Amino acid sequence: MDLAAVFEGELALLYMERYVDEGARTYSPLAGETEASPRYRPERGAPSFELVAVNTPRDRVSVFQADPSPGLLQHFVRPQGVLFAVHPETWANETVERLGDIRALPRDMSIRVAPTASTRTVLALERPKNGPGYFLKLHYPVRISRFNRELRRKNIHNSVAVSRDLANLRFDKFAYLPDTLGVAFGMDEQSWGFLVRETWPRPFVADRFLIPCFALYAGDLNHPDAPPLLVQMIDRLAAEPVSFVVDRILGPVVECWARAARQRGILLESHAQNTLLEVDRDCVPRRVVHRDFDVWVDPGARHRAGLGMPFLGRGMAADTDEAVKQHYSLVYDQFIGHHFFDYVAGILKRDYGVDEAIVRAQVREVFHHSFPDADRLFPLRTMFKFRTQSPPDRSVVLEDMQQPPVWR
Ligand SMILES: Nc1ncnc2c1ncn2[C@@H]1O[C@H](COP(=O)(O)OP(=O)(O)OP(=O)(O)O)[C@@H](O)[C@H]1O
Ligand SMILES: [Mg+2]
Repeated sequence: MDLAAVFEGELALLYMERYVDEGARTYSPLAGETEASPRYRPERGAPSFELVAVNTPRDRVSVFQADPSPGLLQHFVRPQGVLFAVHPETWANETVERLGDIRALPRDMSIRVAPTASTRTVLALERPKNGPGYFLKLHYPVRISRFNRELRRKNIHNSVAVSRDLANLRFDKFAYLPDTLGVAFGMDEQSWGFLVRETWPRPFVADRFLIPCFALYAGDLNHPDAPPLLVQMIDRLAAEPVSFVVDRILGPVVECWARAARQRGILLESHAQNTLLEVDRDCVPRRVVHRDFDVWVDPGARHRAGLGMPFLGRGMAADTDEAVKQHYSLVYDQFIGHHFFDYVAGILKRDYGVDEAIVRAQVREVFHHSFPDADRLFPLRTMFKFRTQSPPDRSVVLEDMQQPPVWR
């Protein structure tokens, strides 16, 4: 892909989501696996497909809100009932609970969408008359990479609650794509549904463009010889590669992550699919835009910051200091360091002959500057990762790698 195409807006973003992810899913033996039907996959699937929608009486659904744009709220929550969206593969899956009840409801206008890199989050190709564009994150109970992609009431509640909480995180390099509306069919724990994620980052700044972070270093399926966008960007700006990458990309990711963890107890999973680089018209990176807020929350950090726990479940479900440290390591060392930064350092090495140790040393400095009390929250001399045989639900079995941290 040519860097200039980034300025074409939402369709360019969709192109990157679907096709500029080649070679980026090698970070674990499960990362490249998917049980989603081929036609709904981002890279090889149909150009678009339709979500099934039904009209549900208001009293049969739970609705969660984080200051949704009025046009979107009116589009989904209407006087005649709530528009409830279902992925077509979920709709056809006889084993999905409650489907009989949902299928019995009157059908509404279907919603034309295209998949993003996560497969179960899709971009609506038509926006409502008076609203911004939106993504829908869907209940899709098949395994995609490590997990079965269910979207239960708790996931919906927490994603919206974290979106609401992040409105309080003020930092000029931080922005987020809020899950502003969530709907679950039913009121109990097992109920499932969808999230509406707005395409405009908050706080909103005009004339900015988004690049999913994996598309900075991944290959383009349709143009295998095109240089990575990161390399095109460095060339276009005539930037010094190491300082550009550290000051404009990796450093800000670390700074945003440390602020969310320390000030709000929110452990953003800032890997390359959950972060987007926001650039201005000159292609200068301005902010890191975050998405996907079904994440762990550290009750201890919330308590220290004087904040409550408006989330369902027990935060990190970690009741010892040791378990808390393992979660911090998993999210920072693995999701951010290994699944994201290692790839960026790999490009600097391959295309500019940069010693990766130099990049790591500079990022470590940013890390300790942003996280002065890190030694209290991280395992000092080792890192943790998912055990290869972890069960495919969200329960986590972690393993001590017995290796010193690389990016801190
Ligand atoms: N380069 C990449 N790095 C990480 N994950 C990727 C990448 N490309 C595609 N993915 C996919 O994105 C998903 C990442 O999982 P994660 O739990 O962050 O997302 P999600 O909750 O399914 O959706 P969303 O991020 O849209 O809220 C997985 O399905 C994974 O296969
Ligand atoms: Mg994600």
